[in-house]
Amino acid sequence: MFSEKLQNAINDQIAFEFHSALLYKAMQAYFEDEDLPGFANWMDVQFQEELFHANKFFTHVAEAGARARIMPIEDVPNEFSSPLEVFRAALAHEQIVTARIGKLMDIAREENNHAAQIMLQWFITEQVEEEASAGLIIRKLERVEGDGRGLLMLDQELAQRVFTPPTDA
Ligand SMILES: [Fe+2]
Ligand SMILES: [Fe+2]
Repeated sequence: MFSEKLQNAINDQIAFEFHSALLYKAMQAYFEDEDLPGFANWMDVQFQEELFHANKFFTHVAEAGARARIMPIEDVPNEFSSPLEVFRAALAHEQIVTARIGKLMDIAREENNHAAQIMLQWFITEQVEEEASAGLIIRKLERVEGDGRGLLMLDQELAQRVFTPPTDA
């Protein structure tokens, strides 16, 4: 069973995952408006992944016999100035998420909550991937800077991304 401390921290994280989902949706809107449908698609997939994360925490709480609370969700920015700025913001955001997951793991360890540790392990691996994929796109954007053709090629590449619910989760 959960301690109140861990329960509250997970409730906060559920809200933060919904916040992440909305942040990516706002980024998608920016790319739709910039006529970059591939980038917009990438953000839509990211949005769906974040909903999946929120639900994974939610389900864990329910399966552990506790009750999740849906907390208020922070506002997200709607103004962005360039694709590079968007992806730098996405990476900075994922770094915050990684730190938060680390703190959740610290609490689960202190409390010897093994089930929560196993669930959080998945998120720790997922965050390595999240940071790597945003970082890779940043480096590609830095290379194509000012080159409209390069940007369109990258847009085509990002159009290929599809959301597939993880089978190991
Ligand atoms: Fe997430
Ligand atoms: Fe994420």
